[in-house]
Amino acid sequence: MKKFLIFLFLSIALTQSCGTEKKDSSKVVTPAKPSIKDIVASMTLDEKIGQMVQAERSKISVDEVKKYFIGSVFSSGGSTPGNTIEDWTKMCADFQKSATSTRLKIPILYGIDAVHGHNTINGAIIFPHNIGLGAANDPNLMKEIGKVTAQEMVLSGVNWNFAPCIAIGENSRWGRTYESYGQSQDLVSNLSIPYILGLQENGILACPKHYIGDGAPTWGSSKRYMLDQGNVEISMEDLKSKYLSPYKKAIDNGALSIMVSYNSINNIKCHENKEIITDILKNELKFSGIVASDYEGIHQIKAELFDDQVIKGVNAGIDMFMEPNDWKQFILSLKDAVSNSKVSQERIDDAVTRILTVKQKLGLLDDPFINNKFSAKSLASTENVKVAQKAVEESLVLLKNENNILPLKKSANIFVIGDAVDNIGIQCGGWTKTWTGGDDKDWMKGNTILDGIREITKNNNGKVYKENKDIDKCDVCILVLGEKPYSEGEGDCENLSIIGDLALPDNEININNAKNTKLPILTILVSGRPRIVNPYIDNWDGFVAAWLPGTEGSSVAKVIFGEVPFKGKLPCKWPSSMDQLPFNITNAKPLFDVGFGLK
Ligand code: BGC
Repeated sequence: MKKFLIFLFLSIALTQSCGTEKKDSSKVVTPAKPSIKDIVASMTLDEKIGQMVQAERSKISVDEVKKYFIGSVFSSGGSTPGNTIEDWTKMCADFQKSATSTRLKIPILYGIDAVHGHNTINGAIIFPHNIGLGAANDPNLMKEIGKVTAQEMVLSGVNWNFAPCIAIGENSRWGRTYESYGQSQDLVSNLSIPYILGLQENGILACPKHYIGDGAPTWGSSKRYMLDQGNVEISMEDLKSKYLSPYKKAIDNGALSIMVSYNSINNIKCHENKEIITDILKNELKFSGIVASDYEGIHQIKAELFDDQVIKGVNAGIDMFMEPNDWKQFILSLKDAVSNSKVSQERIDDAVTRILTVKQKLGLLDDPFINNKFSAKSLASTENVKVAQKAVEESLVLLKNENNILPLKKSANIFVIGDAVDNIGIQCGGWTKTWTGGDDKDWMKGNTILDGIREITKNNNGKVYKENKDIDKCDVCILVLGEKPYSEGEGDCENLSIIGDLALPDNEININNAKNTKLPILTILVSGRPRIVNPYIDNWDGFVAAWLPGTEGSSVAKVIFGEVPFKGKLPCKWPSSMDQLPFNITNAKPLFDVGFGLK
């Protein structure tokens, strides 16, 4: 912005020197920096509307960022410029240079979903998904996770994380259950606040999401899925008392952006809901940061034309529009709406003021690459990996331990079975490399539960066997079951042909084989949510919920062999049958209640 700033400095200095008051000429006057108000006042409508646009990286060229004065570019799930850090830094720098070569030189925000680490870069640290962090319930650790995630993001040149998800995951049939820390507002706040601080104190803009009630729709009310993006029937009083507090606390603790949710409240999409966005979030809670739309969120607003969806979204109070594909049409529609007075100048100025203020608070107006100073030296440094290992260790919840099966003897001969015992893709779950993740063994760099078991037994004269012919040599069987990765409504359980419902994942054969070994069985479940274990649990001596541990799977072994104690507690109720769901309606007694976890 330098030229423009000099122009503004001079105008301000000139105005000052023309005053009637006599000035002391011996004093050096340092011209004040232009305020955001001054900058906004100097902007054309095109420049303002451009700031309100967030386009997808693959749908916009570097030159278009300059031509349309774009405010933000983002990567949708799995959209990457390449696999290496160099690919990322080059892409971000190119976009940033283009943005800052405009008249006003306003830098862009580059956003990604680093929801469990910088998950599209192979070699970055992938942390346990939030549900596991909810089980760990360690605020100090959350701050560290925020910091490490920020450091790896900065290394790649990005500055905005669409995280944390502060949903209350009430119904484990929801495909986003694992994005939620759990079922209590206090737990969600205790963990999300330090995470937000960890990000924002280390150069990354946080974005609590999805405002509001994202986990609460009625089953079957969604047009696209079953629960995700559906409708919540609720009084305003209940909505506030059940879901608002994590937003209030995030705002009070400095969160600078918030993403609106796809779902409807009483059949009105949140993206068009002025009461929710402007009256409650901006006026009542005094949120002065950026309200961002979700991916084509305004496309779900009831209206005949896209033009009307744009008008409704802007007038509801959204400031930045995630319009991956139709951003050019968005610009035309909004310009038209302003010239027809369907959207006021005042509303546009409010949006742009918020966007520029956030950019200023991040330091970007002084230096678009300011956050470089927070960068990690390399991906997955030894020190940072320790944070992920600790997160895995603390997240494990011991749900059953009979006949002294745990801790396992390090010198034992162990029979291992199950699709998830040696699979990094399953361990990481959705939002890993691609939007929905993948179940390839080597989906990402990292280590598996089996790697950990091997290492510990090898150092203690124990052995690991996988072939049925070796069962007689074994003392114990470890059965590791895992959900195939999914994300968002794709994981609403009836949508998944492979899952069907919350019955145990598709390892019937493995489950039976384990039973047929006649060995004591320790079952480890790798999943983004509780699954129904009732038909089988009596056959198991031990049962551990490992959630979706990420790339440091081998740390699971440290806990089952007793090198580190079990610490995790259930952040959500564990149903004994599908009929119990959702708990807020049935009030049924779960198999294991919130807070349960053996030592
Ligand atoms: C999700 C958001 C995400 C966005 C951008 C949407 O589908 O609902 O959580 O931040 O995509 O990837």
